[in-house]
Amino acid sequence: MKSKILHLLKEGTDIISGEELSSQLQVSRVTIWKHIKALQQMGYEIISGPKGYSYTADNDFLFPWEFAERQNQIQYFDSLPSTMNKARELARKGCPDQTVVLADFQEKGRGRMQRTWLSQRGGLYFTLILRPQLPAISAFLMNFIASTVLAETIRSQTGLKAEVKWPNDILIGDRKLCGMLSELEASGELVSFVNIGIGINVNNDPTKDEKASTSIAKELGYEVNRRSLLSGFLDGMAEKLTDIQPEIAVAEWKKYTMTIGRKVKIVTLKETAEGKAVDIDESGALVLQQQDGTLKKIIYGDCFHL
Ligand code: BTN
Repeated sequence: MKSKILHLLKEGTDIISGEELSSQLQVSRVTIWKHIKALQQMGYEIISGPKGYSYTADNDFLFPWEFAERQNQIQYFDSLPSTMNKARELARKGCPDQTVVLADFQEKGRGRMQRTWLSQRGGLYFTLILRPQLPAISAFLMNFIASTVLAETIRSQTGLKAEVKWPNDILIGDRKLCGMLSELEASGELVSFVNIGIGINVNNDPTKDEKASTSIAKELGYEVNRRSLLSGFLDGMAEKLTDIQPEIAVAEWKKYTMTIGRKVKIVTLKETAEGKAVDIDESGALVLQQQDGTLKKIIYGDCFHL
């Protein structure tokens, strides 16, 4: 009902009366009034006057009804400790493929390697629950596909030159714009779900706490619509997931990466390795050519471009 009311209010250029809304939507004027009051309390600047209601403001809300035909896919929360925890809970309960757990704010956003992810309001924080029909050893492809689609979406919507730093960070120059964290559960040898958690600095300013970071608004000098970004990303994912081809997924990722061909230092929980990043192998590992010429494969770690 909220989505329908907003649609009628946005469509009309003039004031629309409670009576007209109630007759178009086949509900009582009291019902209309209750929904409008709830929308106003949520932050919608709907003006109510003696002749009816008007609404002209463009907004950046992430409420499910703002996503039109995609609304059933969106699980929205104003605040969560972490979208990863809620997504795991929903995935274990059997929620559908491509469910999105979205929070306007995270109290304990989680980063890779047990770090925290600063999640101020204005950023975009979500976990996409995927159920690909894949063996668990191929689940890494979801990360490659997601970071490729994210780079493509940011480029097409903002014009910024978003590049991927292995494994899944999105950078603008040497400043981090997005981070990605994934969690997998398998049943036997098959993927049960892969949860891809993504944090994008959009209209927030993370630079006070994280010096090597940036946000879309900081790069462009103006704010952008988080809903368009998320919808663009979800459209791209839905398309790529219809036909997953490992070689293509990795080849597409390589188009946007800044890591291959670079001298890098990789820090894992156990060791540090240095060399030239030369390739990604068939298991998704980074292939590092060390100083003595030997090749080393690394599956997980932090990457520093030297
Ligand atoms: C990293 O670069 O360290 C990964 C950061 C991932 C952050 C996102 S925000 C949405 C989702 N929920 C979390 O708690 N973490 C991920």
